[in-house]
Amino acid sequence: MESDAQPPSLFPSDCGAPFDLKPENTITSWESLPTSPAEVAVFDFLRSEQLQWRQKRLLHVGMGNSSLAETFAAGLAEYVGITISLPEIERFKSKLANAGNAHVIFLNKYDPRMYPKIRGDFDVIVDTSLKS
Ligand SMILES: C[S@@+](CC[C@H](N)C(=O)[O-])C[C@H]1O[C@@H](n2cnc3c(N)ncnc32)[C@H](O)[C@@H]1O
Repeated sequence: MESDAQPPSLFPSDCGAPFDLKPENTITSWESLPTSPAEVAVFDFLRSEQLQWRQKRLLHVGMGNSSLAETFAAGLAEYVGITISLPEIERFKSKLANAGNAHVIFLNKYDPRMYPKIRGDFDVIVDTSLKS
């Protein structure tokens, strides 16, 4: 007997999974939510391991409320945050308008067509949403 069950989707529907992002994929609430416990743990790590990141390039995948950039960008050579969320980008620009070494890129991490928007190599990559 054949089953009608579908295989699980490769990408969760709430993570910008479609390669061609629709408007509903570009709004998240993370710009106004508290920093996640996972990212707070990353903050703790960075504070305790200064040599790992000071004056280096850091890529932040899914930058959320911009608190990582606000807290650490001044000590980095360059901060590059990526997100699919337009409100997050607005918040980033309002909070880090004067930080010449902090940049944001609208980029779906699942879409290889967008990868050329990221230039160069990174010393540190932070992504607290590995399940997605
Ligand atoms: C769970 S939130 C975590 C936010 C922040 N990193 C933290 O830990 O507080 C997930 C973040 O990833 C972003 N995001 C979700 N799907 C994405 C995708 N496909 N490509 C890039 N960013 C994505 C969201 O907009 C949000 O900034």
